Amino acid sequence: MPKVYITTDDKTIEMGDGQALIDMCEEHDTSILFGCRDGACGACMIKIRKGAENISKMEDSERDFLETMAAEENERLGCQCKVFGDIEIEVSE
Ligand code: FES
Repeated sequence: MPKVYITTDDKTIEMGDGQALIDMCEEHDTSILFGCRDGACGACMIKIRKGAENISKMEDSERDFLETMAAEENERLGCQCKVFGDIEIEVSE
């Protein structure tokens, strides 16, 4: 079972293998915020500190959006991420 350590909350949460990050956040109290839930608003931007290889690959639409937002290399849209192994993330400012 993948473990997600959210540095912003100093909290580790166990997830189902391949579970969507947004589903985990709906079940637990985290400081990751969601808006559109569809990769179009940027509310859910997170920084991947460890385990980027354990997150589902980026679709072109997410890459295009992050480019528009001038996101950092390690930033992803939380609503677009499925988790397959341990990761460490932080809420983007
Ligand atoms: S919730 Fe809008 S981009 Fe993720």
